[in-house]
Amino acid sequence: MFNTDRLFLAGVVGWPVSHSRSPLMHNYWMKQNNCIGLYLPLAVKPCGLSTALSALKPLGFVGCNVTIPHKQMALEIVDKVDEIASTVGAISCITLQKDGSLLGTNNDWYGFMANLKQEHPDWQADAGPAVVIGAGGASRAVCYGLMHDGVKEIRLINRTYSSAKTLASQFGKTIKPLPWKMRHQALEDVTIVVNTTNQGMVGEPPLDLSLDYLPSTAIAADIVYVPLETPFLTAARHRGNHTLNGIGMLLHQGIPAWKQWFNIEPIVTSELRKIMESSLIKI
Ligand code: ATR
Repeated sequence: MFNTDRLFLAGVVGWPVSHSRSPLMHNYWMKQNNCIGLYLPLAVKPCGLSTALSALKPLGFVGCNVTIPHKQMALEIVDKVDEIASTVGAISCITLQKDGSLLGTNNDWYGFMANLKQEHPDWQADAGPAVVIGAGGASRAVCYGLMHDGVKEIRLINRTYSSAKTLASQFGKTIKPLPWKMRHQALEDVTIVVNTTNQGMVGEPPLDLSLDYLPSTAIAADIVYVPLETPFLTAARHRGNHTLNGIGMLLHQGIPAWKQWFNIEPIVTSELRKIMESSLIKI
């Protein structure tokens, strides 16, 4: 028997959530850090989100991650939202505070940047422009991260131009919105191009992007991780570019969550990365 008062209990709230690889990663860290606890997939329909979040405290959870489709709705439900989540417009992590209130944060931007720096330590934020494709919630987190680390120009390209312009008006002059038809030429002289759309994800067509203008030194990054290598990343690899897949963003956003929940800093080891990647190859 274990002492339930000292059980480390957290989870991920999503719908559907059975595909989530977060439990695999967090339960690996439970073992690595000798914690007695559990990280659970919590399948919650949008209509039940508010009730589920208010049950975190009575059930003894320290908090939870929030995934599709709840990231925006959760923002309206929690008691407090930190500045980053409010800028990004979405919550990825909720932490129960000492007074019993729920604090919403967004760690996705951190996950993207920490993964980029772990995998490509030579990349320099101020060495040239970046291109970000897409203007949804994930794009906002990636743009926030790139700006936070000192990228001076982000060419933001979205199928719906008005959404790119809206994001630019909120984030400031670093973001240069460009129409969709400019996406190929926009790659000229960039240090990194990031796909934040769902294009290339299993069941979706590949991202419609020619890489002819992409410098050979640039990194091609995708936030999609099913499949691990999207057609966009395959094309980039074949022409000699460095690539960055989406699984690392998921891995690294877990670190601040653990700090918030348990005051422990877990490590993204190469063993953990391999475990996560192998679980995706089996799909
Ligand atoms: P997330 O929170 O994961 O970012 P989202 O907010 O729904 O999801 O954003 C999805 C992004 O993928 C948007 O930028 C969307 O472009 P639109 O604003 O034009 O809808 C982009 N996207 C979705 N389907 C696309 C397609 N077929 N071609 C290009 N972009 C697409």
